[in-house]
Formats: sequence, C-alpha cells, structure tokens
Amino acid sequence: MNKKILVLISGNGSNLQALIDSCEQGRINGSIAAVISNREDAYGLTRAKQHQIPAVALPHTQYENREQYDQALIEAIDRYQPDLVVLAGFMRILSAEFVHHYQGRLLNIHPSLLPAYPGLNSIQRALEAGEQEHGASVHFVTDEVDGGPVILQAKVPVFDEDDLEALTERVHYQEHQIYPLVVQWFCQERLTMQDGKSYLDDQMLPPSGYANSED
Ligand code: GAR
Repeated sequence: MNKKILVLISGNGSNLQALIDSCEQGRINGSIAAVISNREDAYGLTRAKQHQIPAVALPHTQYENREQYDQALIEAIDRYQPDLVVLAGFMRILSAEFVHHYQGRLLNIHPSLLPAYPGLNSIQRALEAGEQEHGASVHFVTDEVDGGPVILQAKVPVFDEDDLEALTERVHYQEHQIYPLVVQWFCQERLTMQDGKSYLDDQMLPPSGYANSED
C-alpha cells in the first residue's frame, strides 16, 4: 500500500525535491501528502506547489514557546494522517513531546557522519578541522539532537582545495541519493526502530548504519 509522507522544511528544499522526484518516478512506494515549513519564505514551499503538493507555512514566530509551536505543528501534521514524517532541512529543535508523538516514524538527514559534528554548521566545522572525509547521515529522530540511531550514511572525500561551497555540493549530492532510498525502505515496511536501534529487514543496523559494519 502507498504510504503517506509529510515533509518538514525550513529552506531551499533540495532534499524535498529529491523525494518528490523519487515518488513521481515510482522509486518510492509513497506520496507526499503535504510540506510544512516554519519559514514562510522557504523555497521548498514553491517546489511543493509546482508539484501540486499542499504547501503550508506555519511560522514559529507566531508562538510564545517551543511547546506551543510544536503542539500546533502536531495538529497541522496530523490533519494529513501521515505514515511517515520526514525532516528535510527543518532547522528547529523539537520538543520531547513532538518526538514521542512520532516515535519510530520520524526521520532526519544531517550533513555529517554522525555522531561527528552534530548541530549547526557541520560542513564548515569539518572543513576547519581539516577532515579528509565527511558525509551525511539519515537517522531516526529521538530526544537527543542529531543523536538517534543511524540508518544509512554516505561518505565523501574532502580535498585540499575545497571551500564550503564545493564540499556542501558534494555532501548534498549524496544526501539526494540516500534519503529517497531510506524513505523507500520505510515505505516498504523494511525499516523500524526498536529499543532505540534501527532495524532493516529485522536485522539490527550497526552504529554507522547499513553496509558500514567495517568501522
Ligand atoms: C541539508 O544539508 C540537511 O542535511 C541539513 O540542512 C540541509 C537542507 O538542505 N539539515 C540539518 O542540518 C539538520 N540538522 P535542503 O533544504 O536543500 O534540503
């Protein structure tokens, strides 16, 4: 059965675009029920509209605190009764109540090889630290910021001549490969979270996710 996916964004929405394209091309057994942004000017909302997907702006600035905003967000999301909630560049910390509400059906992508470089400006910090390898991670969301169990990572090399733009582009390219794949696993009911660990086809995934067990 086709799953209903809800995507949360804050900005450009290039990962959203990769998910839209994968759904349209039949590479994901699901459809995007709606896109919600906490920023009215997020370009991702335009991308959604271009594909006849409901695009909702829910500005956090109109709420007094995180708990009130997250409650409104839950109500806005649940109107669409999604099977899966996908964070695609949603740049807000979520309350424990929100995370618990969607436990096991809430995914995030982060531009680093978690647990390295959680939080903001991960690519910039990796460059400044002189890393020779960087990447992206898709993980289930738990209470811990960027701390939930990893499902899949993609590694990229860092070259001496890289600037922020070059490395960001390389990381984003990989993000657009791995996020649709993981969403498809979820839609195929191959992916679950149990006791804070990720499982694919009932096999517990190692800390760095699928196919990275040599680390
Ligand atoms: C992506 O690189 C994603 O990994 C990152 O925001 C970017 C959004 O780009 N997310 C985080 O940093 C979450 N902590 P996009 O709007 O073009 O998809």
